[in-house]
Amino acid sequence: MEKTFIMVKPDGVQRGLIGEIVSRFEKKGFVLAGAKLMQISTELAEEHYGEHKERPFFGELVDFITSGPVFAMVWEGEDVVKTSRHMIGATNPQEANPGSIRGDYAVTVGKNIIHGSDSLESAEREINLFFNGNELVDYTRQDKTWIY
Ligand code: GTP
Ligand code: MG
Repeated sequence: MEKTFIMVKPDGVQRGLIGEIVSRFEKKGFVLAGAKLMQISTELAEEHYGEHKERPFFGELVDFITSGPVFAMVWEGEDVVKTSRHMIGATNPQEANPGSIRGDYAVTVGKNIIHGSDSLESAEREINLFFNGNELVDYTRQDKTWIY
């Protein structure tokens, strides 16, 4: 089944939103395959956001994502990459629809609470960057037949 990498950023952790965010993905019907609270190193931050290296906000982005603990997760389910991006909402919370995570909980693009992989390729790259194979668990949720 398809997997994606989701991360509650330092602002989401400090604002006590880990539980709310986990709950949304759980209630949606996705399966939690791995999770950990961690402090991102500068090296990992620069690698993770490598595609934005030339952007003017890159330094600010790396400083922000390393400014406190993050809650890193792997979620699994049908079309989970694309659906998660809808659940998260637009990059700029001012444009994110109400009902989306950024639409409901964030105000500025620099502090937008949560990260989600933007493609299947990014998901694979980011999962491997943040998790070892032995940190992921393969199991079936009891309600699977009521979701699919
Ligand atoms: P991620 O899930 O975090 O990757 O967000 P995204 O895929 O919706 O957006 P994108 O990958 O284009 O940008 C990565 C992150 O850079 C965003 O989530 C923002 O936190 C940050 N970012 C993007 N544009 C700006 C900006 O203009 N200023 C600042 N300070 N941060 C920005
Ligand atoms: Mg992105």
